Amino acid sequence: MYIERKAYREKQLELLDFIKRYTLLILIFCFVFGSLSGVGIWYSATVASPRGISALIHNYVWGWATEWVFFLIEVATIYVYYYTFGKVDEKTHLRIGYLYALAAWISMIIITGILAFMLTPGKWLETGRFFDGFFNSTYWPQLFARTFLMFGIAAVYALVVATTLQNKAVQYKITRLAGLWGILGFLIGGLMTYWYLKKLPEPAQDFLFGGTLPYLKTLLYVSGISWVLALLYFLLCGALFPRANTLAGSLLLMLILFFGIFAGEGLREGLRRPYIVNFFMYSHQVVAADLPAKGIQAETELLSEAGYLSRLGYLPPELRKITPENQVEIGRILVIHQCANCHALSAKGLRSLPKLLSGMGMTDPEDLAGFLEGLDGYPYMPPFVGTEEERLAAGAYLSTLVENK
Ligand code: HEC
Repeated sequence: MYIERKAYREKQLELLDFIKRYTLLILIFCFVFGSLSGVGIWYSATVASPRGISALIHNYVWGWATEWVFFLIEVATIYVYYYTFGKVDEKTHLRIGYLYALAAWISMIIITGILAFMLTPGKWLETGRFFDGFFNSTYWPQLFARTFLMFGIAAVYALVVATTLQNKAVQYKITRLAGLWGILGFLIGGLMTYWYLKKLPEPAQDFLFGGTLPYLKTLLYVSGISWVLALLYFLLCGALFPRANTLAGSLLLMLILFFGIFAGEGLREGLRRPYIVNFFMYSHQVVAADLPAKGIQAETELLSEAGYLSRLGYLPPELRKITPENQVEIGRILVIHQCANCHALSAKGLRSLPKLLSGMGMTDPEDLAGFLEGLDGYPYMPPFVGTEEERLAAGAYLSTLVENK
């Protein structure tokens, strides 16, 4: 918008060529690719964690509905903006652009509330009220961090598109501008991220800085390094020496930044262990705490008495009662429900259970059942939920994993 206004004001119509290409890149990358991956995310999140999604929807259905309205405006206006270049007058075109930017930002304002709620539900844990969960302790730092880092990411797109321009003078002008915007966005965004890290709840601080989960620190380093590299690139190949910006260089920077973003997302999700909604619902989808305001009761003790199987309505009659014949099969079902969100059951794969268990040298089913009993001693794993009999069944199945290895 800034560049388009500049183009009109200073009568530099070459700049418009840049904006058109830039919009096309955003349109294809964010909206065509984004609509594919967006559907994929909803599908896989619902399959992996139906009760987690259900808890979020029960709380935030109106939040999401509002977000979707703005999202719809965002999607519609980016197409209108692109296809009305040169077909409507300057003022109208600018207005369409502003509408797009505003709708996109508002949809982020809303979705950030729901994402931050999952890590720091705050007073909602007592009141169950929409806005008590929405405006939580990590909301503002995350909103500002995202807003400013986005300027930096937009600047990287600009650096890439700038290299495709014919007119060298325009190319360098845009490159320099992108470098400056990138530096500013990343510096302020970095400060806001620091504020965010300071606001993390205590267990998350321990995981990250106390060394309980060293891999999280690695993720922090990856995103930190990508941030530093981007700043250097903005400064050297953007603001100071725009001639040094090349297509390969800017694409490489984009790739590095994507690694950084993935690491950051992994970090945000990892810090919430062992919960989906912090302190409220465990990652194996058992409600951990009472929420009287909504008439919700903790399920850990209830299910330890009634049995975890009592919840699995889809089980055929022959798997509803544990017998020596079906013990291992039922154990497998329990382990899938309670461990597979974080552990692979095969020898290969992420946090492979066969590997971890073999590493601990445990093979006996009863020892393994005993290990399950003490699972809540680990700050990052939820307790095993079920009856003694169910724990033995899970132990029996886990022992087959170790032997099969
Ligand atoms: C919320 C995610 C999560 C869930 C659910 C979970 N774990 Fe873990 N588990 C972890 C993490 C993270 C580690 C640390 C892994 C590492 O160091 O690589 C871990 C480590 C372990 C270890 C190694 C412990 C040690 O002292 O080295 C075992 C064994 C294990 N888990 C078994 C299980 C079993 C069995 C279940 C299901 C009943 C389960 N976990 C459920 C996240 C989880």
